[in-house]
Amino acid sequence: MFSLVDFLTSFLWRKALMAATGFTWMAFVFTHMLGNLMVFAGPQTYNRYSYLLIHNPMLPVAELLLCVFVILHATTGIILWHLNFRAKPKKYAVSAKGSKASPVAARTMIFSGAFVAAFLVFHLATFKYGQNTIVVYDGQPMRDLYLLVSTAFKSNAYVAWYLIALALIGVHLSHGFASAFQSLGVNHPRYTPVIQFLGIAYAVVVSCGFMALPIYFKFFL
Ligand code: HEM
Repeated sequence: MFSLVDFLTSFLWRKALMAATGFTWMAFVFTHMLGNLMVFAGPQTYNRYSYLLIHNPMLPVAELLLCVFVILHATTGIILWHLNFRAKPKKYAVSAKGSKASPVAARTMIFSGAFVAAFLVFHLATFKYGQNTIVVYDGQPMRDLYLLVSTAFKSNAYVAWYLIALALIGVHLSHGFASAFQSLGVNHPRYTPVIQFLGIAYAVVVSCGFMALPIYFKFFL
C-alpha cells in the first residue's frame, strides 16, 4: 500500500508538494505585506483592518492550512536535502571555471529555511501572542495592534533584527520562487531567466514592503 512515508519520499510528489506549499506561503506573505502597509493609513485603519481579519470566520481554517503547509514544506525540504547530501559526497557540482555551479542562495536553502522557521516562532510570540492592549472605536473594542507594532519598532534591536531577517527571508523567497517552477517542470532556456527575474522582483517587493514598517516607525514617526 502507498503510505504517507512513500508519498513524502517519492521524487515527483515530493517536488510537487514543496512547490505547492511554497506557493501558498508566498501568496500569504505577499497579502500579509500588503495588509501591513495599512499602517501608513493611520492607527484606526490598521486596527480596524486587523479586527476584520481576526474576526473572519475563515481565519482558523486558513491558520490551520498555513500550519500544516509549513510543516509539510519543512519536512519535505529536510528529506530532499538529506537525500541530496547522501547522493553527492562532494556536495556541490563544480563548473569548468572551477566555481561552484549552483548559486549561494540555492545551496543554502536548508539554512535560510531554518532561519525563516525560527523567525516565525519569534514573530508570532511578539505580535500574534504579544501584548493585548484594547482600543475602542465607535463603541467597538478591538486589539491595538498599531500600538504593538509601533512600540516594537521604536527599539533599535528590533529594527536591526527585522531588517536583517527580512533580507534573509527575501533570499529564501527569491530562490524558492524559481525553484518551485522548476519543481513543477517549467524548465526552459527561454522562460527560466524570466522566472528567475520574477522571483527576484517578488522577493524585493515583499522584503522592501515589510522593511518600510520598521524604517517608518524608527526614523520617520
Ligand atoms: C515588518 C514585518 C511584519 C510585521 C509588522 C508583521 C505584523 C504581524 C502582526 C501584527 C501579526 C498579528 C496579527 C494577528 O494577531 O492576527 C502577524 C501575524 C503573522 N505574521 Fe507577520 N508581520 C511581518 C512580517 C512577517 C513575515 C515576513 C512573515 C512570514 C515569513 C509573517 C508571518 C506571519 C504569520 C504566519 C502570522 C500569523 C497569522 C495568523 O495566525 O493569523 N509576518 N504579523
